[in-house]
Amino acid sequence: MNILLTGGMGYIGSHTAVLLANAGHQVYIYDNLCNSHASTLERIQKITTRTIGFTEGDIRNTEKLTQVLREQKIEAVIHLAGLKAVGESSQKPIEYYANNVQGSISLIQAMQLAGINTLVFSSSATVYGDPTYLPYDEDHPTKPTNPYGRNKLQIEDILRDLSASDQEWKIGCLRYFNPVGAHESGLIGEDPNGIPNNLMPMIGRVANGALPSLNIFGDDYDTPDGTGKRDYIHVMDLAEGHLAALNWLKTNPGCHIFNLGSGDSYSVLDLLHHFEEASSQKIPYQVVGRRPGDLPEYYAKADKANRLLGWSAKKNLSDICSSSWLWIKNSRKH
Ligand code: NAD
Ligand code: WQD
Repeated sequence: MNILLTGGMGYIGSHTAVLLANAGHQVYIYDNLCNSHASTLERIQKITTRTIGFTEGDIRNTEKLTQVLREQKIEAVIHLAGLKAVGESSQKPIEYYANNVQGSISLIQAMQLAGINTLVFSSSATVYGDPTYLPYDEDHPTKPTNPYGRNKLQIEDILRDLSASDQEWKIGCLRYFNPVGAHESGLIGEDPNGIPNNLMPMIGRVANGALPSLNIFGDDYDTPDGTGKRDYIHVMDLAEGHLAALNWLKTNPGCHIFNLGSGDSYSVLDLLHHFEEASSQKIPYQVVGRRPGDLPEYYAKADKANRLLGWSAKKNLSDICSSSWLWIKNSRKH
């Protein structure tokens, strides 16, 4: 299939591009590089030994996007482009709504103009908000607690309305849990600009000496070791989820929601200790106060993806930490 990835130069997009190209699909990337680097394209091509097309552009440029969709004879779109920093979304909500919600509407319009109706959307477990029960299943109430999460939910609502108005659409909304890890080549991985927000890139900065120590946000949660617990999912497992969704959508019109998580949760200290083992070094840390808005624990019920898509997470915490460490070691040299 000819598949367009919006945001395909980013962390999850680049890994998904590798997986799809290796599965024999023709991958084309559309990205404005606001949170990624043009050099990622060469790395994807090096891993896959295939040519990957790329246009630098903003998803809000409907005309440019439509032209790419038509010229490349695109048959399906995976929509990963978006701004994703939860804290920043509260400081710059309009920027987030304009980029993420308006950008998604522009993409849908471009797809309509180009006559394409298969779409996989990068949603997030953040749409659930405070758990009324755990694990979260896809029917859990949605009450996001920040603008970023509300962006994701609004886009899902738009996609549901679109699919109700036109039964030709085949849409998968994938609610990712906590994506971590890197491709086994060590050539691509997560490389955020500035000081990272998320745990794994933060551990990486400490491991490569860029930061002196890790702040652990609270050890007084009601969890076995007192630190927050999350459902960490290897980015290559996540990439597999996109391929599985695309295959399944071929015969399943409508708008469908899937959790993509491992179904297990691990604490900050669990992740830290696995990383120490993978990198054969101690990671210095101190416990500081809780981060506002953090939940003690959440994790996925991923049975629906397993049952319908035949998908489940295969990689464990050791795979996650060893692949991350390989990427972090390599990226020191870039
Ligand atoms: P990322 O920032 O690495 O990748 C996003 C890409 O989108 C970047 O390359 C960026 O340049 C591009 N982009 C942003 N706005 C754009 C625009 N207007 N036009 C064109 N390109 C644009 O992020 P990621 O971690 O790879 O996340 C990919 C998607 O998955 C995002 O939609 C994110 O919200 C979602 N998601 C991420 C996580 C996570 O923890 N990483 C969890 C759940 C959902
Ligand atoms: C994980 C755990 C922190 C950093 C976020 C978004 C979510 C989704 C995934 C996009 C928590 C602790 C963290 C640090 C720490 N993204 N921590 N020290 O908050 O679960 O989820 O990313 O959709 O929407 O909210 O991920 O990696 O920031 O935190 O102790 O320096 O690590 O308190 O328990 P989070 P995270």
